[in-house]
Amino acid sequence: MADAAQAMESSDDLDGLKQGLMAAVAAAANVAVLDEIRVGALGKKGRITEMMKTLGTLTPDARKERGAALNVLKNEIADAIDARQKILAEAALTEKLAHESIDITLSPRPAAEGRVHPISQTIDEIVTIFASMGFEVAKGPDIESEYYNFEALNIPSAHPARDMQSTFFLPAQGADKMVLRTQTSPVQIHTMMNRKPPIRIIAPGRTYRCDYDQTHTPMFHQVEGLVIDEHTHMGHLKGCLLDFLRAFFGIADLPIRFRPSYFPFTEPSAEVDIGCSRKGHELKLGNYGDWLEILGCGMVHPNVLKNCGIDPDKYQGFAFGMGIERIAMLKYGIPDLRTFFEADLRWLKHYGFLPIDIPNPALKNG
Ligand code: DAH
Repeated sequence: MADAAQAMESSDDLDGLKQGLMAAVAAAANVAVLDEIRVGALGKKGRITEMMKTLGTLTPDARKERGAALNVLKNEIADAIDARQKILAEAALTEKLAHESIDITLSPRPAAEGRVHPISQTIDEIVTIFASMGFEVAKGPDIESEYYNFEALNIPSAHPARDMQSTFFLPAQGADKMVLRTQTSPVQIHTMMNRKPPIRIIAPGRTYRCDYDQTHTPMFHQVEGLVIDEHTHMGHLKGCLLDFLRAFFGIADLPIRFRPSYFPFTEPSAEVDIGCSRKGHELKLGNYGDWLEILGCGMVHPNVLKNCGIDPDKYQGFAFGMGIERIAMLKYGIPDLRTFFEADLRWLKHYGFLPIDIPNPALKNG
């Protein structure tokens, strides 16, 4: 009887213990609390472990019954702890993910260091405007043969650009004398030799001349333009440059003037002036009655078309070329061309562009 009574008591005990532990496990808010419960019940000195240690004092029958009951309880509690641990781990992961997710509604923040160089920026602006007029970007090599830089462009041997004083000559390669290109115009030749009209390209890039003063450096940049089609005429040339210059400088009524001029590779040729004011010390662009020369252009010379295998009786077109530093200086008020290439970080911080501030000239009312 005594055994039976003890067994009854014990099972009541165990029920109470189980309820208490199960409630504690269900309420555990984190893994640390759960660990405390595990140690308190199943650890070396845990309550269930201690109860197991007392089995030896029981009669064999009572020990068997009590031992089985304790084992069941131990397993139930261990399972409950494991299940709760899984739930807590999942919840922790969900919370972590919610915290770590990227908020794509935030605008990108520019790096505090680093600026876009005004030359890169100006080239981007030029490309953007001409791209909106259907032009592609073409490229050519910096090292050219004399043929591409001069001959094919109808530049006679007596032309001043051929002088040792103004051109960097390089050792000949085979029969061809090589030069650092003095202009981007040879890209016209590469383009016309490699593809059929209609052609509509611009070619921004580096050019080289033996020069060094406030408005010249031995390396500088130009952009060339070329349009070849069956019915292209001077009116297209004028409209195209008018649209470009007004969009680039962001002045909707910027006056443009075409003055007759001479280039060996165009006929007729013109120089283009834009309206400005020189009153006081400051140069201001706009409709003020004064003029500033800005670029050269003309209708592509029939000899140049012939040199590239294009029939001048069927095709014609226009070309233009301008200095990128020059228009960047005018637009952004940079007084000395040499400073573009001095790699002075203070200068770049002043005149350079943060990627986020970059103006988009194609969006202006040109
Ligand atoms: N290549 C000329 C220069 O460097 C600029 C130029 C003038 C380019 C007239 C042209 C053009 O394509 O038609 O001074």
